[in-house]
Amino acid sequence: MQSLAERAVEVLTTADGRAKTALGRAHAAAWFAARAAGDPLPIGRAAPPLRPARPERPELLPPREVPRRRPGSPQGRIALLHAVAHIELNAVDLHFDIVARFADVPMPLGFYDDWIKAADEECKHFNMICDCLEAMGSHYGALPAHAGMWRAAEDTAEDMLGRLAVVPMVLEARGLDVTPGMIDIFRKAGETQALDALSVIYAEEVGHVAYGSKWFNWLCGRDGLDPKEVFHGLVRKYFHGALKPPFNEEKRAEAGLPPDFYWPLAEEWETGD
Ligand SMILES: [Fe+2]
Ligand SMILES: [Fe+2]
Repeated sequence: MQSLAERAVEVLTTADGRAKTALGRAHAAAWFAARAAGDPLPIGRAAPPLRPARPERPELLPPREVPRRRPGSPQGRIALLHAVAHIELNAVDLHFDIVARFADVPMPLGFYDDWIKAADEECKHFNMICDCLEAMGSHYGALPAHAGMWRAAEDTAEDMLGRLAVVPMVLEARGLDVTPGMIDIFRKAGETQALDALSVIYAEEVGHVAYGSKWFNWLCGRDGLDPKEVFHGLVRKYFHGALKPPFNEEKRAEAGLPPDFYWPLAEEWETGD
């Protein structure tokens, strides 16, 4: 039987976005069906690629060369959604990558339940945003996208705690900070399909940050480490730059991320010190 790690690698090595998410959703369904039947899939072992397969389009550019988004125009809103689609596709791969890459670390089955659920939701997010782009006469791949998205994964390829600290607890938590502003843009523009899609993303991303916090704390507790100190050390080691306030304190709290985790890593000029 195909193991969970092998299934995750199959998703990572599929280049086309829609094909990747279809496969990802099928593997997630298989995982949860087996769990419900009381006969979980073997976790197994498989070697994930250093970088996931990507479609020929979009063209990937260094961040400063990606054209600026002006959300006041329909074209600007398409560019904004295109950037979100790119983030979601990377998120699909990030969640399958954590399952495959650290399959040698013995973890409770709930760890895989959480990341496979998160991965399945990212597949849905990518598809919803692609549907929006297509309804607006565009598509994923029509515009250039950010080349640096996989950096955090490569930097933490050998360090599971580092991966949890940087990906869900810093990058996905940042998503909680910025998504309400995006939702406002589409509400004001009366674009309800994008508004609905972003509202689903906003609600479900709280869960992904919570999974990060939960398993980060679990691993620290298993090894008798102080989670806050370990978090600060790992973010300083692997994340390039300070965290940017304002923070979504309410949603971060809901996701189990207390202020003394992120405020000490924030840009000083923003804190009012
Ligand atoms: Fe997402
Ligand atoms: Fe996510």
